[in-house]
Amino acid sequence: MRIAVGSDHHGVKMRLKLVEMLGSLGQEVTDVGTYEDQSVDYPEVAAEVARRVSSGEMQRGILICGTGLGMCIAANKFPGVRAAPCYDDLTAELSRRHNDLNVLCLSGDMLGEKLVDRLVEIWLNTPFEGGRHARRNEKIADLERRNGDS
Ligand code: RB5
Repeated sequence: MRIAVGSDHHGVKMRLKLVEMLGSLGQEVTDVGTYEDQSVDYPEVAAEVARRVSSGEMQRGILICGTGLGMCIAANKFPGVRAAPCYDDLTAELSRRHNDLNVLCLSGDMLGEKLVDRLVEIWLNTPFEGGRHARRNEKIADLERRNGDS
């Protein structure tokens, strides 16, 4: 899978470990930074990842900031992006089964390394259930199109 990964300064360490982990799983990773420990505004990083997912260049994205929340808000501004923070096994699993989540948002400050590895693995390996959930996602896409017109 083609996966873009980005973080602000709260997620640099976690992101670098994830990039390594994803590479060892055979995923095709694009790392958009940030590359220093310097403070960076998370919407800029979110845009780098979300733009690639929105255009189809990347199939999935992972974004890390202090809470995972700001990245999520910014990423969801891009058409076709379904981003949400996941904090435990169940949210990671249902985010895929029900929401077809294509951008996983993580907290660099609140989640431990082992948990993050597990969340990412669940999120990578859990299929979308389709059916009624596909109909609901289509309704979300419709909201996106109609609000874009106004
Ligand atoms: C940066 O201080 C912090 O606000 C950011 O990492 C993130 O948690 C925003 O939602």
